[in-house]
Amino acid sequence: MRKATFALLLAALIGWGLPARARIKTDQDMEKKVLVVFFSHTGENYGVGRIVKGNTHIVAEMIAQGTGGKLFEIVPEKDYPQTYNECVAEARQEKESAARPAVKGDIAVEDYEVVFVGYPNWWGDMPMPVYSFIEKHDWNGKQVYPFCTHEGSGLSETEKYIAGACKGATVGKGLAVKGTMAQKSQDQTRKSVQSWLEKVGLAK
Ligand SMILES: Cc1cc2nc3c(=O)[nH]c(=O)nc-3n(C[C@H](O)[C@H](O)[C@H](O)COP(=O)(O)O)c2cc1C
Repeated sequence: MRKATFALLLAALIGWGLPARARIKTDQDMEKKVLVVFFSHTGENYGVGRIVKGNTHIVAEMIAQGTGGKLFEIVPEKDYPQTYNECVAEARQEKESAARPAVKGDIAVEDYEVVFVGYPNWWGDMPMPVYSFIEKHDWNGKQVYPFCTHEGSGLSETEKYIAGACKGATVGKGLAVKGTMAQKSQDQTRKSVQSWLEKVGLAK
């Protein structure tokens, strides 16, 4: 009897009989639900001619692949002009009037823990439909990572603008990629994306 009790105790201590992979998951082991939302414009664009997939769209796909996250595109109800100069003029007017253009469809940001928010730098800011999308949601407790494509201005002050718009979220260090690079040097861009994801601890 005493021997049996001892054997049972020993078995319990060394984990006998447990399936080899059974273990308690710690908080660090829990996979976070990741969403990648982005706005991107096709048509005539700076330094890349007429494009069928936007520069930011390309980077967003790389982030979704690198994290296993879900991709969602912010699409305005009314298209922007396909010619560069007309688009630039319209975007300027919208920024000056703090417009909030209507956007198509939606996704429940509330169901995710980590949200990447991507956009082209337009006049040192995010395109206004990105604000329209952000303002529809509750960002409390979310971890937000901004990323943008640009042609020289980098992220400008957009990390700060995102922190102001996504109330209650923690905003991490953003990534800026030159649009021409995203469009024309995709291997190099993928490396930059991967190294950023590793730095922020979100690589798959
Ligand atoms: C309306 C408009 C405004 C822009 N303003 C800036 C700017 O202020 N700074 C900058 O570096 N690039 C600016 N650009 C260039 C874009 O940020 C760049 O081409 C970007 O990669 C476009 O991304 P997309 O293809 O995802 O739309 C602007 C482009 C457009 C169309």
